[in-house]
Parts: sequence; structure tokens; C-alpha cells
Amino acid sequence: MSTTALPHVRLDSIGKRYSGTKALDNVSVEVAAGTVHALVGANGAGKSTLGKIIGGVIRPDEGQVFVGGRPVRYASPRDARTDGIATISQELSPMPHMTVIENVYFGIEPRRAGIVQFRQMRRRYAELVAEWGFELDGGARVESLRTADIQKAEILRAVASDAQVIVMDEPTSSLTSIETEKLHRMIDVLRERGKTIVYVSHFLDEVLGLADTVTVLRSGRLVRTAPVAEETEESLVAGMFGAAAAAENFTKPAPATAPVVLDVSGLNRRGVLRDISLQLRAGEIVGVAGLIGSGRTELARAVTGADPVDSGTIAVDGTVRHIRSPADAMAAGMAYLPESRKDDGLFLELSVAANITFADLRSVAGRLGVLSLGRERSRTRELLDLTSVRPANPSAKVGHLSGGNQQKVLFARWLLRNPRVLVLDEPTRGVDVAARAAIHRLVNRLAAEGTAVLLISSEIEEVLGLAHRVLVMRRGSITREFSADPPLDAVMEAAFGLGGRTIA
Ligand SMILES: Nc1ncnc2c1ncn2[C@@H]1O[C@H](COP(=O)(O)OP(=O)(O)OP(=O)(O)O)[C@@H](O)[C@H]1O
Ligand SMILES: [Mg+2]
Repeated sequence: MSTTALPHVRLDSIGKRYSGTKALDNVSVEVAAGTVHALVGANGAGKSTLGKIIGGVIRPDEGQVFVGGRPVRYASPRDARTDGIATISQELSPMPHMTVIENVYFGIEPRRAGIVQFRQMRRRYAELVAEWGFELDGGARVESLRTADIQKAEILRAVASDAQVIVMDEPTSSLTSIETEKLHRMIDVLRERGKTIVYVSHFLDEVLGLADTVTVLRSGRLVRTAPVAEETEESLVAGMFGAAAAAENFTKPAPATAPVVLDVSGLNRRGVLRDISLQLRAGEIVGVAGLIGSGRTELARAVTGADPVDSGTIAVDGTVRHIRSPADAMAAGMAYLPESRKDDGLFLELSVAANITFADLRSVAGRLGVLSLGRERSRTRELLDLTSVRPANPSAKVGHLSGGNQQKVLFARWLLRNPRVLVLDEPTRGVDVAARAAIHRLVNRLAAEGTAVLLISSEIEEVLGLAHRVLVMRRGSITREFSADPPLDAVMEAAFGLGGRTIA
């Protein structure tokens, strides 16, 4: 037990600056071997930056990292991996064109005389998924996977390489509750085997239930490191945002009895969606619950022209619209916030302002004949304010924003358009509790102004908290409908296909 005398990873007075921003300022943290050490903080607090420094993705400007008592300075994540440190990143970017198996064993392929032993690799993969209870087709190309499955591949990759320290940056933000459970069990086993986990999460209940120790960061500075036993959700929130941050209770506005804005009838897509009909009224928030793979995202994509359909009609404000592309959907007054901000939404090389106004360029230009830059700028500022994007600088490059702030930019983009129909897929994924509350307020405000909202979320509490009605999907069909405030277990049972009668 000589290793327990030394912290497994020790960060000493770490500083990291990005033009103008101090992402980390004099942060010292000790991560004990064989523990789960959580990092919490608001969006932009510096959690990912700290994780990246441990994982060799970036290097600190100041201070020193020690691993097992030795000073280290990794040139790359690969360098860190050789030293037993693996990172599961927030951005989910393994080699997209390769298969899951190739990704999992990338760089550690079993070889004989220099030749990769594919059969052995497949056998090891089968053992690996069996051991950890994950279902994931090893032959699938990573680019074809949904976000949760990419996350699973990343986790398997870390485990396969026998990493001693695993940095997990919001690993559960795209997992369902069952998968989250599995991951938690997996982490318990890793800890039993003496592995060290650095765990970034915005789910404070998760942190309190899972971690041994928690470090709170605020604006790049260390607030404190403490055993979780000494913390509560309230104490963590106070640490993250300052004592002034009060928990906010959310009240649902009265359900609308208003005209139908979105009328979807008999939508089919072979093997994906079956006979989907639904109506959204002005001001109504309709939640879609269901397991991953139940067709929720596919529904959102079909309605908004991102995927083709085989049959069915979509009417907006009583007029049937031929929606064959996202541009058609936009022209019909629909806005779609996709699940994956990186693939479907943001231009990482462009500024915040350009990303927000992108969707609006045409309508502003159409209405005014020319683009009014002044108007655009003031609206952008207003929206940054509303969504509390940090830094609140319209000319910052979106690629330089923290994950949660990128999500807020995407949100701001659609707010600018005042859509008739807003389709949200995992709108608060990766955003901190304060921004989450802000987004919930915005969704309500839009609904109060007459927008019809279709809300997809893996967080059942979010669906139940916001929606006036809840639709449950299973295997590509809508199988149940609940009016206001259904009990959580009834919705869960319906999602699993248990209990109750299905609607025709
Ligand atoms: N490549 C970069 N260029 C410029 N600024 C950056 C870069 N990466 C991070 N930053 C800034 O550093 C700060 C910390 O970012 P970081 O990603 O560590 O936050 P975070 O705590 O992980 O937030 P989130 O909860 O939103 O993921 C932010 O202000 C961010 O805008
Ligand atoms: Mg982050």
C-alpha cells in the first residue's frame, strides 16, 4: 500500500491562459489513487481544461503536474496514454471513419510480427463488452453511431488500454438512465481495481452518489476540494456560483387551448418511424420520452426535413408544407436544435455573432433588403445576455467556448428567429444548473409567446417538469400519450413497453 502515501495525480499551481481568458489560475489539486475525484463548476469554470491538462491534450502555462510523484509534461494524449492516463473527452471525437473495434484498439492493436491480428482483436472486443455488459456493435462505423454509443466506444477504449487514470468529461450527458447506471457500476468496479477516475459532471446528485472527493472550480480558480460526505447539492451550487445563487423553482404555465400550429399526420420512414401523428398547439410544450433508439431523434429529424420520409404530411398553421430539407422547415417557421452540436449545428471556426445570426441572415435581409449590422449586433448582445453565454463577447470564436456555452449559442440562434415551431433535442445537455434554469425559462417564455415546442430529453425530470403533454415513443411509434404531470414511473413503464394500454 505504498502508493496510497502519494497522490496518484497532483496538480501544483496550474495556470492556463487563452488570449484574454484565464481558464485556470493557480489551481492545486491532489487526486488520490483508487478514488473517484469529481470536478464541478459552472460552464466555463475550467473543468475540461483541467481534465485536458491531466490527459496530455493541452499543456499548462504555469505549474507542474505530477503522476505517481514524478513530474510529467505530456506532449500529446498518446503520450499520456502510454503513461496509463486515458481521457474520454466531452467532444467525442475518435476516428469517425473507422469501426468501433478499430477505435477501441487504436494504437494498442494486437500484433504479430508487426501485423495487426484482426481476429484476436474481435475476440478481445467480444470479451470486453461481455465483461462490462455493454451492447455495442463492434463492426459499426463510429460516424454512423448516435452520441451515446460513441461515448460507450470511448469508455471501452479507455478500459481496453488498461488505463490507470481515466479522465471522464461529462460521460453521462448523453446516456440514458439505464446506461448511466451501467457506467456507475463500471466506475465502482474500476475503483475496486485500484483505478483512479477524474469525473466531470453537471449532475450534482450523480457527483454526490458516485465520487469520493469533489473539487469545485469557479472562473478558473479553485474554490475547494472536499470529501463528498461533507458536501450537499446546495453547498456545491453555492461554491460554483457564489452564495447568492438560489435554487429556482419552476412553475409550469397553464396549458394552452390555442389553434394547432404543427399538425403531423401518418409520418412513416421504413424501419425507423411508424405512422407518427401528432399535433402541437400554439404555446404548448409537448415532451417526447422514450429509450435511446426509440425513435425520438429520428422523429425530430423527419419533422424538420433533416431526414427523408416515405409518407405522411406536415402542416404548419393549417397549410400543408413540403418539407424535404432543413431549409424547407426553416421557411415553414420551424427551428430545430439538434442533439449533436458539433455535427449538426455550429461553425466552430466562426464567431459567436456569426453563429447566432446565421439562421437569420435570410430573413433579416429579406425583410430589410439589406443586412442591418447595427440591429444584428444589438440583438446578438441581447440574446447572449438572455442565454448567459460566457464570455459574452459576440466576436469570440465558437470553437474556443466551453461545451455548455456552445450549446447556449445554438439556443440563441433559434431564439433570434422567433420560430412558430421549436424542436429541441436534448436542449440542456452539458449546461450547468444555472444555465439550465435559464434555458427552461426561455422555453417557457417562447411558449408563452405562442411558439409550439416539441421537447426531446433523456432526462425524464426535464420532460415532466416542462411539458404540458408527454408522448412516449417505442420502436419508432408513439405508443402512449399522457396529459399534464403524469407520474414518473408510469412514463418509464410505457417507455419500456410495460403496463397500460397502447394507443392505436
Ligand atoms: N481553445 C480555447 N481558446 C480560447 N479559450 C478557451 C479555449 N478552451 C477553453 N477556453 C476558455 O477557457 C475557459 C474554461 O473552459 P472549459 O472548457 O475548461 O470550461 P468547462 O468548465 O469545461 O465548461 P463546460 O461546463 O461548459 O464544459 C472558458 O472561458 C473557455 O471559453
Ligand atoms: Mg467542459
